[in-house]
Amino acid sequence: MQTFTRLDPLRSTLDALRADGPLALVPTMGALHEGHLTLVRAAKARAAHVVASIFVNPRQFGANEDLDAYPRQLARDQALLEAEGVSLLWAPEAAAMYPAGYATNISVSGVSDGLCGAARPGHFDGVATVVCKLFNQVQPDLALFGEKDWQQLAVIRRMARDLDLTRPHVGAIVGVPTVREADGLAMSSRNAYLSAEQRSQAATLPRAMKGAIAAMLDGRSVAEATAQLVAALTSGGFSSVDYAEVRDPDSLAAVTEPACQPARLFVAARIGGTRLIDNMAIAPA
Ligand code: PAF
Repeated sequence: MQTFTRLDPLRSTLDALRADGPLALVPTMGALHEGHLTLVRAAKARAAHVVASIFVNPRQFGANEDLDAYPRQLARDQALLEAEGVSLLWAPEAAAMYPAGYATNISVSGVSDGLCGAARPGHFDGVATVVCKLFNQVQPDLALFGEKDWQQLAVIRRMARDLDLTRPHVGAIVGVPTVREADGLAMSSRNAYLSAEQRSQAATLPRAMKGAIAAMLDGRSVAEATAQLVAALTSGGFSSVDYAEVRDPDSLAAVTEPACQPARLFVAARIGGTRLIDNMAIAPA
């Protein structure tokens, strides 16, 4: 596996790889875990070559967020990607991605509003901008993203549709189901911030979400079920809940009758200084 940090050699090598068949892109910010490797495996099953990217994108972090603390472990990540048979790693430095004079921002309204968009102003502009750049730099036939960041996936699909992107086109943006630890906690690079006690408390999140989903399928209102969820998180050790909401899976519009229409439960909650997010379909198990 070759690692590239500059665009010109990346482009000529990608042209050669493309001759072998479809090219899949797995964009990441590094600190790889089993969830990322599942994306790589899903990509390998669909393409002749997999390109991974690692870039801790400053534009998607707010002023008081964890940009400096975000785990960076390039050598370890390279070894993991190599072992999975990734053909090429694109790991630009910030100056290569946003050179002096850089002035363009992509903002996707609607799906970016609310949920994480409300708690993290500007976050999805940063995501849409860097993902559009990554798509243009790599020009993959398909790209894969984890469903744990469901709103992110909705933003990226909306952007691809609205900007008529062709590499990849919107139908080739693939969502891969969330990979979970044995106790149900969704895998995330931020789980590494949790102390041992916080890590065991964090398992309250998927448990309480399943409880709320069962309550809604049993006829409880969204308001009652989410209030029950917030109470369970608070008594389980979470310090605050940013949101617990039921939304349409595609438009992300609010849903009031989740037992009768497609719906997902979205939660973001903090445990100590760490913010965890998760989402689940509201459907019988
Ligand atoms: O999900 C992530 O890791 C990031 O938001 C992404 C898509 C790589 C963009 O920086």
